[in-house]
Amino acid sequence: MKLQEEMLIVSQKEVAEDIFELVLQGDLVNDMEMAGQFLQLKVPSQDLLLRRPISISSWNKQEKTCTLLYRRGDKTTGTYLLSKMVAGQSVDILGPLGKGFPVDEVTKTDQVLIIGGGIGVPPLYELAKQLSKKDCAITVLLGFARAEVKILEEQFAQLPNVQVKVATDNGSYGYHGHIGQLLNQLDQEADAVYACGAPMMLKAVATKFENLERLYLSMEARMACGIGACYACVVPDKKDPNHALKVCQDGPVFKGNGVVI
Ligand code: FAD
Ligand code: FES
Repeated sequence: MKLQEEMLIVSQKEVAEDIFELVLQGDLVNDMEMAGQFLQLKVPSQDLLLRRPISISSWNKQEKTCTLLYRRGDKTTGTYLLSKMVAGQSVDILGPLGKGFPVDEVTKTDQVLIIGGGIGVPPLYELAKQLSKKDCAITVLLGFARAEVKILEEQFAQLPNVQVKVATDNGSYGYHGHIGQLLNQLDQEADAVYACGAPMMLKAVATKFENLERLYLSMEARMACGIGACYACVVPDKKDPNHALKVCQDGPVFKGNGVVI
C-alpha cells in the first residue's frame, strides 16, 4: 500500500465563497475505502512545514481521481497558497488516513440520518453515495452560515433515496436557523446517524441521539504528523479517563458514545 504520492491536479475552482473544489489524480485513490478518511496536503511553501488535513469528499476509482473541498484562509495561510495552484501541477499527498464512517451494518429497511455543518459537509457526500446504493431511506440535513457558502446540496439531492434539507443561520437560504434547530424539528426515527461539523453541532447531535448504538461523529483536531506518531490531536476517551484517543489514527470518525466532545 502506497502512503505518499505527488498527485496531479486535474482541476481546481472556487465553487462557493472562499470554498475550493480540488480534483486530484493518482494511485492513492486505489487505497480509499471509507468515506470520512482524510488526506494530508503539503502546501507549496518552504516555510509552512505542517501538512493540512482535508477530508476526501468523493472518489472515482476508474478515473483514479478524488475530490476535496476546502475553505481558503486569508493570505497568511497554507490553504491560500494551495488555492493558487492550477491543473497540471502536482501536490504532495499523504493518505488516505484515519478511520471513516462504517456502512456495512446498514440494510435496506434502515432510516439513515446524515447531518453536516459548513466545511464538515464534504466527507458526507461520499458517505451518502455509498449508502444510497443500499436502497435505505436517507435524510440529509445541511447547515451553513449563509447562502454564499452553501456547498454540495444539488449533488446530494441527485443521489437515489436521498432527501435533503438545508438551513442557513441568517435565513438567506432554506430553513432560517441553526442546524441544531432544524434537527430538533425533525420528527423522524433514525436507525443510524452520521455527523460532521463544528463541536457545538456534534454536541447537539450526540445529546439528541445519546442512546443510539449506530451514532458516528467525525471530530476535528489540530494535527501535525497525521499518522499517530506525535500526540498533537488527542481527545479524551469517554470510557477511560486515563486514556486518550488520537483523532488522526483512532478517528476522525468515532462512535458517538466513545469520545468526549
Ligand atoms: P493556517 O492558519 O495556515 O494553519 C496553521 C496550522 O494550523 C496548520 O497546521 C493547520 O493544519 C492547522 N489548523 C488550522 N485550522 C485548523 C482546523 N480547523 N483543524 C485542523 N487543523 C487546523 N477543512 C476544509 O476546508 N475541508 C475539509 O474537508 C476539512 N477536513 C478536515 C478533516 C480533518 C480530519 C481535520 C482534522 C481538519 C479538516 N479540515 C478541513 C480543517 C483544515 O484542516 C483546516 O482548515 C486547515 O488545516 C487550515 O489550514 P490553513 O492553511 O488554512 O490555516
Ligand atoms: Fe500526530 Fe495525530 S497528528 S498523533
